[in-house]
Amino acid sequence: MNKNKIALSKSNGLRGEITVPGDKSITHRSVIFGSIADGVTRVKGYLSGEDNLRTINAFQMMGVDIVIDGDELTIKGVGLNGLKEPDDVIYAGNSGTTARLMLGLLSAQNFFSALTGDKYLRRRPMKRIVAPLSQFGAKFSGRKGATLLPISVSPGEISPIKYDMNIASAQLKSALMLAGLYSNGENIITEPSLSRDHTENMLRAMGVAVKSEGTTVTFDAGQTPRALDINVPGDISSAAFFIVAATIIKGSELMIKNVGINPTRRGIIDIMLSMGADLTLENTRKESGEDVADIVVRSSDLTAIDIGGDVIPKAIDEFPIIALAAAMAKGTTVVRDAAELRVKESDRIATTAENLRKLGVEIVEHEDGMEITRTKQLTGCGDLESYGDHRIAMMLCIAAQVAETPCVINDIECINTSFPGFFEILKSTRK
Ligand code: S3P
Repeated sequence: MNKNKIALSKSNGLRGEITVPGDKSITHRSVIFGSIADGVTRVKGYLSGEDNLRTINAFQMMGVDIVIDGDELTIKGVGLNGLKEPDDVIYAGNSGTTARLMLGLLSAQNFFSALTGDKYLRRRPMKRIVAPLSQFGAKFSGRKGATLLPISVSPGEISPIKYDMNIASAQLKSALMLAGLYSNGENIITEPSLSRDHTENMLRAMGVAVKSEGTTVTFDAGQTPRALDINVPGDISSAAFFIVAATIIKGSELMIKNVGINPTRRGIIDIMLSMGADLTLENTRKESGEDVADIVVRSSDLTAIDIGGDVIPKAIDEFPIIALAAAMAKGTTVVRDAAELRVKESDRIATTAENLRKLGVEIVEHEDGMEITRTKQLTGCGDLESYGDHRIAMMLCIAAQVAETPCVINDIECINTSFPGFFEILKSTRK
């Protein structure tokens, strides 16, 4: 069979102890802040997914010495003003985080740069980054008024950033914060609802004074981060596939070790608990400024709930797999306030709905969400399509574990963007 598709069939339960790869967001930030820090940053347990390799490559292109050795990265920081002009276009691949955070950082450098991505990323909106940064002195040009990649960046003088964001986006917040580090005064950034705060946590751990009050962050420009030894916890967004899998596949019991449970990321845990999941957190602890735990999940019946408001950004990457959980829950689950799902690696409302409908699930789409109604069993799938979206591909692989008929999932190579080793873990846990 073509290696970009897979046939999977029903499972009798997942059992055992697993660890998932390192957190994607924390790995990106380790590389970015380690590169502009003073001193040598060591990053243990970094994610070697393709998205993160793009960020590493971008900084190598700007003269940063980054050595990859097993599961450890060593980054020789060049300080706030030590990056060099890259002599080619930076390629962000499929990685929205690389593209958007880099646009923030590049906008404040004294050299020219250009950035592009794969065919999916070239469709994703960049106006949310380009428009506010331009107000504060950044100079972009690019396709469709620099709202789509490729985008080039000319040297700009960034004035202190005082900005009220109209979307809860950690990518936007972090891009503004990166540019703000190079402004010449106090930066004040407010978001409508709290998005993941790894940027704030890492900067603080690196000695940068960043104040967080409610949904506002305040910090002075010109502070150089200090190098840090970082232990990256397992990515809760990867663990989410196994949390839902062990819940919906009868006869399962999984222990997922060393998972980051930062309060701004643990929406999946709260949502699954509200739906009736049998899930416990053990051995909770702090690692490099982040909350970490081992998660024990056993199969259980689920009940539909309404999901909306402040929990949405805390579970923003989990909605494909939450939709599958909802498809197995009694009643109709309603997801609202989640229009951001339309502009992820794919339009996740459309791609989730189309695939789950093929499996017999009833789904009503809304511009900002969906209503998902349980079917007795998932059945009757033709080929399922990831549309190049890693999280859709993994959700479908889990759906196949509970479907009555075997499923073929197309276009699965994209899983490597965030979860290398996904199939090995799945195989090792099947009874
Ligand atoms: C990320 C932020 C989220 C998330 C993405 C990673 C980050 O995007 O979807 O996978 O690392 O900052 P938004 O902040 O734009 O919602």
